[in-house]
Amino acid sequence: MNAAVTLTTLKRFKQKGERIACVTSYDASFTRLLEDAGVDIVLVGDSLGNVVQGHDSTLPVTMADMIYHGACVARGGKTALRIVDMPFMSYASVPQALGNAARLMRRGGAHMVKLEGGRNVVDTVRALVDHGIPVCAHLGLTPQSVHQLGGYRVQGRDHADAVRLLEDARLLEDAGASALVLECLPTELAKQITATVSMPTIGIGAGPHCDGQVLVVYDLLGITPGKRPVFSHNFLEEAGDIPAALAAYVKAVKDGSFPRAEHSFD
Ligand code: KIV
Repeated sequence: MNAAVTLTTLKRFKQKGERIACVTSYDASFTRLLEDAGVDIVLVGDSLGNVVQGHDSTLPVTMADMIYHGACVARGGKTALRIVDMPFMSYASVPQALGNAARLMRRGGAHMVKLEGGRNVVDTVRALVDHGIPVCAHLGLTPQSVHQLGGYRVQGRDHADAVRLLEDARLLEDAGASALVLECLPTELAKQITATVSMPTIGIGAGPHCDGQVLVVYDLLGITPGKRPVFSHNFLEEAGDIPAALAAYVKAVKDGSFPRAEHSFD
């Protein structure tokens, strides 16, 4: 069995330039398969609102949903670091965030919580970290703000947005965040953010220069209903079975052959 992945492991990965393989999971069985395939981080994403519950956004997902799925994942997990998403409006104030993050750590199997936003969540990140709760931040296309962003679209393409996102990454690191998801950003901007911060960046649709990659497990197996997101790849098609597909994803992330230019944005 592999050693358990901790924050120390993530720091070492970044220092040594070893790429981090992250995949979402919502249940015990997939978690077991993901760990057997060598996945470093399992993300209990609020994407479960889309792929498990069938909603058209993550907005309906509740704390009870996250605790339920986090606990399922924890029962199947031994080695991967578990990050659990804080759902929409569960961290609208610092006291609310502290209470809800504590529930995810106590009952939802979280080793770390993830929340979306930049400078607007810096005080919340600092308060969580001050209370011993590791935080993964999330910049770029932040799905909980889909209506404010005007749809699921690539962020940071104009200069002012790119500067703001780079500053946000610095502020989040100063506040104590331990990792940063970058979603749907131009490759060069994600590369610059990754080179600027010392916490590991984990990209999805953010090009090959991030310290790690994450995909929604149903996307990488090609079983998400509807159109495949441009930034994902169906690893099951070539691999033939699920364990082989998950192992192929981990290998492709580690050796840098995923994502390719066709999964990335300018
Ligand atoms: O909810 C989720 O699965 C996520 C990933 C897409 C990064 O936040």
